[in-house]
Amino acid sequence: MGGFMGHGWSRRAAGMMLGALMLLVLLLCLLPGGDRGAADAAPAARSFTGVASCAGSTCHGRMEGDGKVVRQDELMRWQEPSSPGGAHARAFAVLSGTRGRQIASTLGFGDPTAAPACLGCHSTPAAAKGARFLASDGVGCEACHGAAGGWIASHYAVGATHASNVAAGMMPLDRPQARAAVCLDCHFGSDRPGQFVDHRMMAAGHPRVSFELDLFSSMQAHHDEDADYVRRKGRTDSLKLWAVGQAMAVERALTLYASAKGSEGAFPEFYFFDCQSCHRRIYDQAERSKTWEANPGRPIPVGMPPFNDENMIMLSAAAKVIAPGAAGRFDADSKAFHAAIARDRGAAVAAAGKLAASAGALANGFAGARTSGDMAFAIVSEIAGGAISPRFTDYEGSVQAVMAIDTLLNSMVKSGRVTVGAAAGIRADVNRAYAAVKEPNSYQPAAFRSALGSAARSIGALR
Ligand code: HEC
Ligand code: HEC
Ligand code: HEC
Ligand code: HEC
Repeated sequence: MGGFMGHGWSRRAAGMMLGALMLLVLLLCLLPGGDRGAADAAPAARSFTGVASCAGSTCHGRMEGDGKVVRQDELMRWQEPSSPGGAHARAFAVLSGTRGRQIASTLGFGDPTAAPACLGCHSTPAAAKGARFLASDGVGCEACHGAAGGWIASHYAVGATHASNVAAGMMPLDRPQARAAVCLDCHFGSDRPGQFVDHRMMAAGHPRVSFELDLFSSMQAHHDEDADYVRRKGRTDSLKLWAVGQAMAVERALTLYASAKGSEGAFPEFYFFDCQSCHRRIYDQAERSKTWEANPGRPIPVGMPPFNDENMIMLSAAAKVIAPGAAGRFDADSKAFHAAIARDRGAAVAAAGKLAASAGALANGFAGARTSGDMAFAIVSEIAGGAISPRFTDYEGSVQAVMAIDTLLNSMVKSGRVTVGAAAGIRADVNRAYAAVKEPNSYQPAAFRSALGSAARSIGALR
């Protein structure tokens, strides 16, 4: 069977009549997984089958989440209009709303629902499409779980395991690095066609993209982490997910910055730089009114835009606690990178490569690390502490810090270190920190640091 299913099969198929080929593809879809390889095997395995293929009422389209193994009402939850969990199902439709049409017409793209520059993130990017695939389904199941052609028929069969599904091409979203890579493609950008929101799109009206892996994962979750889930995939470690998410975001940003995406015409690509550093008021008066603050983590001369370092700051805090041996190197590499940007693009690209490697090594280290309940407390106190806190001089780093505090507090509740009641008691402090970053145009670094400090102190008191 193996030879028949493998590359020999593809070569033979090339010479066949179309009808026969279709029949074979159909047969392959219906056959159980067997020893067919992962996504690189038969073309059918790489085919996106479409949301309709998952939506049967005996599959993931039930009205009640009462399935034996998984809930089976995932479709409904993915579509839920009242929650952020429903955002992916809406992603295609928002393109033809007022804002979407205005962005596309400003850029000269015409109809946004047909613009490749938008569809890479606002629908399921699919190279090979099955008969039931529809771009209008938005960010469908396979955008995250992987093309289902290789496993749609086998994943619910008797004897199927998570490992056999993954071997047939299912994305192992339970692994923090695999999940981060999938989300970042759209929630930061990638080098694949149609997956980059450059500054020109922002200037045309696209919202700024902000992301934190653990928080956004819980916002869109459509599964229960019950005993059965834990048996099959293990318990989700929120702290690890957060830390790996930060490291992967730094690695992704630097890799893209070092690629052709890093410049636009004679300019650097502004997407990578701190938005507010350029978009500020100018005061022209006898008494200087300074709108920027010196930043100890970022040796960049006055008058130059800083690289957006929101994830670098968080990664520095995470490394100090989870991988103290590697923290010094990461901080040195990140300072060297900021300084290199002031020299020339060649130096910046070289330093970006080095820093990306540092971040990648931290992602690997975190993924394999043994975390403990104390670590979440230690990271919160690092974030608000003397080494990290002075680095909150800009809006975006501050937003990322509040999301971190929120995530880490939730992880303390999940791990049983903090009771639900105690967490609710300090919710007001966390909300004050959120309020301090609600409006970018009225952001005040000192006021933010004070709100963050008091939230961190209340959390620390629960230790
Ligand atoms: C790199 C992926 C990516 C690309 C490319 C992209 N977007 Fe988006 N878009 C997003 C994400 C992510 C959000 C949600 C931002 C947030 O709230 O965090 C979004 C939000 C939006 C929104 C606001 C939706 C709402 O619910 O208010 C509109 C409108 C939009 N995009 C239109 C477009 C158009 C038009 C294009 C093509 C010119 C485009 N996008 C290209 C990722 C992308
Ligand atoms: C934005 C990404 C994304 C989209 C879109 C998405 N999922 Fe998920 N899904 C996840 C993540 C992340 C998990 C949790 C990690 C895991 O167990 O794989 C998950 C979990 C699940 C689970 C539980 C798995 C288990 O082992 O218990 C099922 C079933 C599922 N999704 C089905 C669907 C279906 C059906 C759709 C489309 C209607 C869909 N998902 C759309 C990301 C996504
Ligand atoms: C193929 C692109 C794509 C992928 C992959 C993707 N997303 Fe999204 N996501 C989007 C777009 C586009 C939006 C905005 C849609 C809108 O506003 O209508 C969005 C919105 C969201 C929202 C709602 C945000 C809000 O402010 O309401 C959450 C939460 C989210 N995504 C989480 C995730 C997570 C977690 C993953 C990875 C498991 C992921 N997404 C993978 C494209 C994607
Ligand atoms: C290096 C400086 C710089 C950075 C960094 C920068 N921008 Fe801009 N931005 C500009 C310039 C220059 C313009 C064009 C102004 C004009 O057309 O007169 C602009 C225009 C815009 C506009 C259109 C304003 C209008 O009046 O229509 C928006 C919106 C915007 N930027 C958002 C962003 C966002 C979001 C970020 C961060 C992801 C960002 N910018 C980062 C320099 C910058």
